[in-house]
Amino acid sequence: MQKLEMIYEGKAKKVYRTDSPDLYWVEYKDDATAFNGQKKGTIDNKGVVNNKLSAVFFKMLEEKGIATHFVQLINDREMVVKAVEIIKVEVVVRNIVAGSLAKRVGLPEGTLLSKTVLEYYYKDDALGDPLINASHIAALNLATPEQMAIIKEISLQVNDILREFLAPANIDLIDFKLEFGLHHGQVLLADEISPDTCRFWDKTTGEKLDKDRFRRDMGGVEDAYQEVLKRLGGE
Ligand code: C5P
Repeated sequence: MQKLEMIYEGKAKKVYRTDSPDLYWVEYKDDATAFNGQKKGTIDNKGVVNNKLSAVFFKMLEEKGIATHFVQLINDREMVVKAVEIIKVEVVVRNIVAGSLAKRVGLPEGTLLSKTVLEYYYKDDALGDPLINASHIAALNLATPEQMAIIKEISLQVNDILREFLAPANIDLIDFKLEFGLHHGQVLLADEISPDTCRFWDKTTGEKLDKDRFRRDMGGVEDAYQEVLKRLGGE
């Protein structure tokens, strides 16, 4: 397979066309942004960790019956995925209050939610990815109700599978963001699953092992990413 021209550059990844119309080539970068691009920096080796960790998660999810875009790991920073058209809805799944939910509802971070919370955000950088609901999604034709039913079901399944997978590594899954794409009409789990897109807390100490260390200038960012990879056997 051949890597051809770049067709998209996002904040954390570059996407290239390949000699197959059905496949894209993804390169993970070390660039880090937060607060809708207002805070910029780099996290050494983040691209390597997120590429390898996403591969670990996607492979494991595929084994559990979740249809993902993942095809194969190419090297430390690159993977090949199925070509998808990204659905412009970001799905956030929450088990424990943190981040923007803590601010929105006035509960302290760490509060256990009595039920899993699902939120939808409009994937639009210029608008700052605003919170939207199912009726906005339908009215803006971002996805059909049938596609949203599938997305909701997969998101909740992924939450159960990830929590079970992370528990033996002594990691609590606080919340995470998923993106989905369409491949020949099929809804596939896409984008990445990494410490950039999930909140991971050490079960015993509550230590943050994710991008909040970068967002909040806590230090130890690289070590935290490396620690997650090590605990999940990606290294
Ligand atoms: O900031 P907030 O609390 O809404 O984030 C919820 C979850 O979604 C966090 O795990 C965060 O890392 C992830 N997220 C993301 N990309 C965004 C916004 C949030 O991966 N643009």
